[in-house]
Amino acid sequence: MKNQMKGTDNDTEKSKIAKVADRLSGVQEYYFSTKLRQIDQMNKAGKNVINLGIGSPDLPPHPDVIKTLAEEAAKPNQHGYQSYKGSPVLRNAISKWYKKWYNVDLNPDTEILPLIGSKEGIMHICMTYINPGDVVLIPNPGYPTYNSAATIAGANVHAYTLKEENNWCPDFEELEKSDLQKVKLMFVNYPQMPTGQLPTHEMFTRLISFAKKHQILIVHDNPYSFILNDHPMSLLSVEGAKDVVIELNSFSKSHNMAGWRVGMLSGAKERIEEVLRFKSNMDSGMFLPLQLAAAKALELGQDWYDSVNTIYKKRREKVFLLLDLLGCSYNKKQAGLFVWASIPANYRDGYALSDKILEEANVFITPGGIFGSAGNNYVRVSLCTPEEKLDEAINRIKNNIH
Ligand SMILES: Cc1ncc(COP(=O)(O)O)c(C=O)c1O
Repeated sequence: MKNQMKGTDNDTEKSKIAKVADRLSGVQEYYFSTKLRQIDQMNKAGKNVINLGIGSPDLPPHPDVIKTLAEEAAKPNQHGYQSYKGSPVLRNAISKWYKKWYNVDLNPDTEILPLIGSKEGIMHICMTYINPGDVVLIPNPGYPTYNSAATIAGANVHAYTLKEENNWCPDFEELEKSDLQKVKLMFVNYPQMPTGQLPTHEMFTRLISFAKKHQILIVHDNPYSFILNDHPMSLLSVEGAKDVVIELNSFSKSHNMAGWRVGMLSGAKERIEEVLRFKSNMDSGMFLPLQLAAAKALELGQDWYDSVNTIYKKRREKVFLLLDLLGCSYNKKQAGLFVWASIPANYRDGYALSDKILEEANVFITPGGIFGSAGNNYVRVSLCTPEEKLDEAINRIKNNIH
């Protein structure tokens, strides 16, 4: 070893260490990860930024959920490794929840896989199915993780554009004009983030026939169906969906448990086994008290969802006011934790508007361009901030933005 080191200068050693794997080329640090650092620096300089960017619910989970976690964690025998497939208690609760709210039958033993958040599920799915060069379809605008996970897995990522005039739905005719031979996976997400667009049964049915015709596995990402939406829908509720669909779901938004990291994947037995083949080599079953508490969360009734939505509705009114002040326009019927709005013509793009109000009013809103080029002329405002803070943001904008 000593001999091999001889003659190697320090710089060469350093550059070899610092050279990351080729699979990370084209993948940057997550936008919010860098933006939060900037906001942190502004706060250290005394700016007290109001962050209306991220969709991390500020409200706590239901008290019964926390009680279950605390009680179970206090028991001496709950601290060992857990099954890779998740606790049967949680899988049964997920199965009942899917039946009750989405009218979907899922076998708790074979068709459900609890996840450490749906974000990790996106990566597991990409690593399970993608070979280098396979094409993956992602929505533009859409959740940035679809792009980065598919890229890391070696996919050739093709964005399909969602347009406001098409109600932010995929344009199937346009898609069929392209060569779909190499398309392996298609990411779909309704209620859509960032646009807040709800699904329709007709669009879901069309999606299933499109997937069957072209033999594409649809990954439906469904974390927002209970937020500001009276009719939660699962793509798995469409007849024949299990042949071509796997669905991600999450406790982060619907149960105020974003920091807990718990989600789920549902689909045909074979798909669950395939994803488990990858996932079981990556991580282990979640802390049992957390799984039992998550199961408790799924037993909550309509009153839970109503209580959360009552608060979001009030906040949304304030966000509408804020957007009016900025001259933005928006559809009032959006689901999910955000309001998506188009910017007035005097700004170059959403980045310009976002930068201006961050610098001049110390309020951060997300530029729509981070979700893809089709979001360039939009901004997204989060509802995860108390009304008083929204009032303050409105005042700052009134006083500082002209
Ligand atoms: C569309 C979408 N999918 C998935 C996630 C990730 O959720 P989780 O907390 O379950 O990983 C988010 C979070 O912001 C999201 O907006």
